[in-house]
Amino acid sequence: MYENNLAYAQDQDKKDALAAYRDQFHIPKDDLGKDWLYFTGNSLGLQPKQTQAYIQQELDDWAKYGVEGHFEAKNPWMPYHEFLTETMAEVVGAKNSEVVVMNTLTTNLHMLMVSFYRPTAKKFKIVIESDAFPSDRYAVQSQLKFHGFDPEEGLVEWKPRKGEELLQIEDLEKIVEEQGDEIALLLIGGVNYYTGQFLDLKRITQIGHAKECVVGIDLAHGAGNIEANLHDSGVDFAAWCTYKYLNSGPGSLAGLFVHERHQHDRDLPRFAGWWNHNKETRFNMRQPFDVMPGAEGWQLSNPPILSMAAIRSSLDMFKEVGMSALREKSERLTGYFEFLLDSLDSEQIKIITPRDPKRRGCQLSIQVKNADKSLHKKLTENNIITDWREPDVIRCAPVPLYNTYEDVYRMVAKLKDLLSHE
Ligand SMILES: Cc1ncc(COP(=O)(O)O)c(C=O)c1O
Repeated sequence: MYENNLAYAQDQDKKDALAAYRDQFHIPKDDLGKDWLYFTGNSLGLQPKQTQAYIQQELDDWAKYGVEGHFEAKNPWMPYHEFLTETMAEVVGAKNSEVVVMNTLTTNLHMLMVSFYRPTAKKFKIVIESDAFPSDRYAVQSQLKFHGFDPEEGLVEWKPRKGEELLQIEDLEKIVEEQGDEIALLLIGGVNYYTGQFLDLKRITQIGHAKECVVGIDLAHGAGNIEANLHDSGVDFAAWCTYKYLNSGPGSLAGLFVHERHQHDRDLPRFAGWWNHNKETRFNMRQPFDVMPGAEGWQLSNPPILSMAAIRSSLDMFKEVGMSALREKSERLTGYFEFLLDSLDSEQIKIITPRDPKRRGCQLSIQVKNADKSLHKKLTENNIITDWREPDVIRCAPVPLYNTYEDVYRMVAKLKDLLSHE
């Protein structure tokens, strides 16, 4: 199916319908002007060249109109977040009314837990993956404490089986069957940051809902990477950042999803600000609070337009490409990467990401024998940018919008070289 030679990789790039998108990104270069082999879109996506113009447009309109830009700017700032909604909803598989861009990821998880983590004395526990991203663990622990529970008692971990790396859905089923009466919330990373495992969101939701547990998803490693189908999966809520696969710049704003079944529930507890008040009467001031329906009803503040301009730039590219074309290339490109790594037949490294393309995104996590971090260091010295995650994994994500088959080929060729000199 694949071939292990440079000519083949270059030929695949020639045949790639999305190949032209690479030129639309700034690819970091070495001192001699040669492109880095950049495989860390799972951490910080690269900058689309057009982003500068999108931000410049808002700077120009700010200079030209001052406060009047809220209405007079080419892209008026007052409804600016609405310009992002449709494509963001398409990217995560949601209805427009279920999605909004606001705050940052951890903040959104807290905002959502204000509404959806409603513990009682009996039903208060929260399930996370044992290897959840630290921010999620801390957020959940602090929510437990905030509600007066002991995090030791309240946190339930869904662990891989002994000697395995990946999570098995049957083990979650067992946890919920046994402790469901005490569990209020499942907060799960849709694509695990460490292993790259894409979990079955629909199944998780069915398991949770069968015991009346709320289901929330951290989609940080999924948005723009896999097709999450949030609406159809039925999850109650989700949040994700936009600086990874959505290429919107360091620390940029996050997305939030609330399933439409909660859309008109005005009794849900939530924190309020003027931006989740009814937009028709927001500027009448001195009104009693009148919460907006849908995901917009979780906003608090008027949003940072310059950061939103970068998201808009990126989403325009996603709209043009479409998630299904992106996934098609991604499966093939990551499949090629997997094929080349396997052909190294090395005892020093092992892919721990699922082998099934439907259960992963573009990232492959390469476990290094004896947790030898020097391999990652040597890759970096050769301008091959991957990331190391303790205790023993090199994460490597060929991103379909800007990585090539040749990138992948050259990366593995260098890895072969480095491993043979170990
Ligand atoms: C899975 C996951 N959750 C949460 C976070 C924290 O995101 P933020 O710093 O934007 O709140 C990250 C950051 O990389 C992440 O990967």
